[in-house]
Amino acid sequence: MAKILVVGGAGYIGSQMVKQLLKANYEVVVFDNLSTGYRDAVMGGEFVLGDLANRESLKQLFEQYSFDGVMHFASFIQVGESVLKPSKYYRNNLSNTLNLLDEMVEHNVKKLIFSSTAAIFGEPQYIPLDEKHPKKPINPYGLSKWMVEQILQDYDSAYNFKSVCLRYFNAAGADPEGEIGERHLPETHLIPLILQAASGRREKITIYGEDYETPDGTCIRDYIHVVDLCNAHLLALEQLLEEKPSAVYNLGNGEGFSVRQVIDTAKKITNQNIKIDMGQRREGDPARLVADSSHAKIALQWQPRYADLEKIVADAWQWEQKMLLKTL
Ligand code: UFG
Repeated sequence: MAKILVVGGAGYIGSQMVKQLLKANYEVVVFDNLSTGYRDAVMGGEFVLGDLANRESLKQLFEQYSFDGVMHFASFIQVGESVLKPSKYYRNNLSNTLNLLDEMVEHNVKKLIFSSTAAIFGEPQYIPLDEKHPKKPINPYGLSKWMVEQILQDYDSAYNFKSVCLRYFNAAGADPEGEIGERHLPETHLIPLILQAASGRREKITIYGEDYETPDGTCIRDYIHVVDLCNAHLLALEQLLEEKPSAVYNLGNGEGFSVRQVIDTAKKITNQNIKIDMGQRREGDPARLVADSSHAKIALQWQPRYADLEKIVADAWQWEQKMLLKTL
């Protein structure tokens, strides 16, 4: 079976990917510096503690193993922080990614699945967003990802390096078997924050603005279950391994939910009262982000299995209760 390197395999999405790769009988090696990931989130395969900033350790990794493909999840993801600390984002998301790409080229491993983001589009010019939507990122996080996407095009032309860029909308939910889930420190994402308010680990949830041009005034996002997201990676990997050309796909459910709708769903699932605070708009939040994922559905034959928001919230709630027990 193919041997896959999962960079950032101890993080929220990377660890779910490792679990699904192992289930699909791939051999897995995880490379992670544990700066935001957790060793106990890696459910199997081999684990190598290392940093993409260190070319020497990358060289050793590629000399030790012969990989058929690489999946790259190791990046910083906070939009607000990227505005305040652009250097941190360009160093890791861009410069460290180049280290990985160059080591791959040097060792003739030329198949990469790259975690990109809806943040490359910037303020939407139309909804839903398809792959062709203009790319005008409005923060260093989005720009760092868009730069890598463009670099990958050049690597394909120059080195015959094949990649699939997967542009995530709002990754959410947790492992339905309850083994792994979201553990960001600090947590900034809506669903885990709401559920922490429901479990009592947090006092309340602050809604960032209710004066947007949406039916209830709060922002609309396209939440995609982390298992569905990882399934799309598996299908994309199969295509690369079958020597198919490079590609890009937007990954979402194609349905938007407002912040208030997510809170209402969480109230229903948890059966808890959730204290709400009305806050100001958060800088850089578009009113509405919804994916057109028809390209992925057709070309990858991908079909989200957990598109229902209640299922996404229920799985995240199962995980939050586990996290709560850990803190007691
Ligand atoms: N929100 C709140 N209160 C909170 C947290 C979030 O009202 O305490 C709102 C946000 O304003 C936004 C929505 O909930 O409207 C979702 O916010 P998240 O922070 O969960 O997610 P984002 O849509 O901001 O960001 C996500 C990923 C980013 C990625 C982006 C792409 O986390 O990495 O999608 O658009 F860049």
